[in-house]
Amino acid sequence: MCAPDDAATPTGVDHAAVEWARALLRRRTGIDLGPERSYVVGVRLGVLASRLGLAAPALPARARLEPAVEDAVVEALLNHESAFFRDWEPFEALRREVLPAVLREARGPARIWSAACATGQEPYSIAMLLHELLGDGAPARAALLASDVSEAALSRARAARYSRFEVNRGLSARHLLQHFEQEGPDAWRLRASVRDLVRFERINLIDPLPPRGQQDVILLRNVMIYLGAAERAALLARIRAALRPGGWLLLGGAESVLDPLIRRDAASGRLAAARPWLVSVRVGKTFWYRRAEDDA
Ligand SMILES: C[S@@+](CC[C@H](N)C(=O)[O-])C[C@H]1O[C@@H](n2cnc3c(N)ncnc32)[C@H](O)[C@@H]1O
Repeated sequence: MCAPDDAATPTGVDHAAVEWARALLRRRTGIDLGPERSYVVGVRLGVLASRLGLAAPALPARARLEPAVEDAVVEALLNHESAFFRDWEPFEALRREVLPAVLREARGPARIWSAACATGQEPYSIAMLLHELLGDGAPARAALLASDVSEAALSRARAARYSRFEVNRGLSARHLLQHFEQEGPDAWRLRASVRDLVRFERINLIDPLPPRGQQDVILLRNVMIYLGAAERAALLARIRAALRPGGWLLLGGAESVLDPLIRRDAASGRLAAARPWLVSVRVGKTFWYRRAEDDA
């Protein structure tokens, strides 16, 4: 039985506010926080409402009047969990095989895009690798774009300042000493030589992608998993188009692509395992997807 709209969840926030916030997040970002996450939504709405000096049931009406309140609700529900060299193996694959191959083949600067970059650890991990591979030549040889839908995450990413907890997650002592300056007991800042390799931009992945040229490498990690099925399929089609033929796509460890391996046969309307759009390849201990060379 559905709970009546004005019933309170265990968090004390009413169901109507939770449902409104889930629908808002889906409309604005494509993220579908299923009913099993209602508790978390309620907690975050409760915290936000008290920060704004409001009662949670008042949030929807206030958000209709003030776009900044609506933005704050979306921000409060986004998950920016990330870490330097997250999962480690994909970065070994990048360092050993993918980046050297891309740099060898690229006619101009290699284009690398960290889509859904959260607070910057992912693109900065790649920037550290590029700096180590190319030294002072890195800015001329590689263009690193990083994007997210969240202005709050992007502003933290641009600042490139991380807490002790954050630098202790995934960074080796060598990387920390070589690429960071300590600014205080709980603050490390990435040096400009690495920081300046990354250009940040707000891009909402459910909108048409801005034309940024075809990319040699795209990292799309730990965001698709939260999207609804229709949004996921549409995003993959856009991502494939943003890759150059032969380009490389990396997804998160829990994400895999079955949809793009299947195409609907135009004549019969039947699903047919046609020539794949993206081909799965193993690099070291990780799986990547490559856009077929002849998929122009
Ligand atoms: C869990 S983090 C993943 C960060 C990083 N890729 C990693 O794997 O460590 C997911 C990020 O996706 C972003 N995001 C969610 N929906 C998005 C959308 N529609 N367009 C762009 N970014 C989105 C969130 O703001 C968040 O920063």
